[in-house]
Amino acid sequence: MQGKTIVLGVTGGIAAYKSVEIVSRLKKKGAKVHVIMTKHATEFVSPMTFETMSHEPVVTDLFARPEKWEVEHVALAKAADVFVIAPATANILAKMANGIADDMLSTTVLATKANTLVAPAMNTAMWTHPATQNNLRILKSRGVHVVGPEGGLLACGDNGAGRMSEPECIVQEIEKLLYTPQDFKGLKVLVTAGGTREYLDPVRYLSNESSGKMGFAIASAARDRGADVTLVRAFTSVEVPQVYEDIHVVSTCDLYDAVIQKAANMDIVIQAAAPADYRFEQQFSQKLKKNAGEAMVLKMIENPDIAKAVGERKHPGQILVGFAAETEKLTEHAKEKLHKKNLDMIVANDVTQPGAGFNVDTNIATLITENDMETLPLLSKRELAETILDRILQLRNKK
Ligand code: PMT
Repeated sequence: MQGKTIVLGVTGGIAAYKSVEIVSRLKKKGAKVHVIMTKHATEFVSPMTFETMSHEPVVTDLFARPEKWEVEHVALAKAADVFVIAPATANILAKMANGIADDMLSTTVLATKANTLVAPAMNTAMWTHPATQNNLRILKSRGVHVVGPEGGLLACGDNGAGRMSEPECIVQEIEKLLYTPQDFKGLKVLVTAGGTREYLDPVRYLSNESSGKMGFAIASAARDRGADVTLVRAFTSVEVPQVYEDIHVVSTCDLYDAVIQKAANMDIVIQAAAPADYRFEQQFSQKLKKNAGEAMVLKMIENPDIAKAVGERKHPGQILVGFAAETEKLTEHAKEKLHKKNLDMIVANDVTQPGAGFNVDTNIATLITENDMETLPLLSKRELAETILDRILQLRNKK
């Protein structure tokens, strides 16, 4: 960790004493460590302890005269390669989720662009409270990383989740964040996700089971690797990741309009959405009524093929990736789509396989390019996303 700067925020909890060991481990690995303590944290551990371990002045007061930093909270925010808060109380998580900046730590973390890691520690009831869990969801969707908490006997005597992760484990997470490659820095990536809806009348529609998990995993992985991600999402059922640009659409025609408008300006387009191939010829403005036992015949017309249209407009150097959701003849159908849509790579998934396809956290995919075919094992959607991104970089290098 030589040459790396870690800013460690310490908030008021009994686990604050364990953070001394985090500083010690980081120093041993060669990192520079700046500690910011909240007022309550200083009730548990003296700033002097952290100063002795870090060999740097500990910051506790927003209005203290800076010793060597110009505008201290901004300088520390900029200096951080990784910003860690350990222990992170329910209070600091709530402040971060809501952008509250009322002391040195909350102000500095609001000002940082560094990868941020929180190690929550609190009583089980506070941890499981919907308010805390909601704040955590917000933070995760913005790309904040979370380690722990672990289960076990807590300082309050309760037994359950809420114990801060061990310093060794927190330091490992910091190392992971420090060395996440920024190999997509400067690249513009468009990702589609979710299932479109084709409305028949104001209350009925045709759609599919897409949850958005696959597209969102790709969008967050690309964001974490430094890309400016434009997400075009139809209907999804999980937390939407925070990305550079987020566009919500309803129907396949809306998805077509949004993607065509944005694609020309993108280095990479990855289409994981499940657009409906057909729409109702007629859309009714009022809820349809039953007709005395008569059968209802509805005519459907074909929607535009978005990936094909993007393929026809592909510019030199641009990489286009599609998905193929198949129930039979996986590679045969996927290869047809690769060619028809002028894609550089297609991610073929057999959506009938357990653990693959719609609305699960894992996928089983075969990556197909003009000259290669790679069958992958069961992976989490995030792991698959990382592999897809690795292969995209290889394709870019060959162009
Ligand atoms: O969202 P999840 O629950 O995580 O599920 C993930 C997934 C199963 C939706 C995903 O892994 C997947 O397979 N997405 C593609 C679904 C699909 O529409 O496949 P397709 O074989 O029908 O389409 C082939 C490609 O053309 C896809 O990239 C699709 O986005 C695109 N397409 C399809 C129809 C259409 N009218 N225009 C398109 O551009």
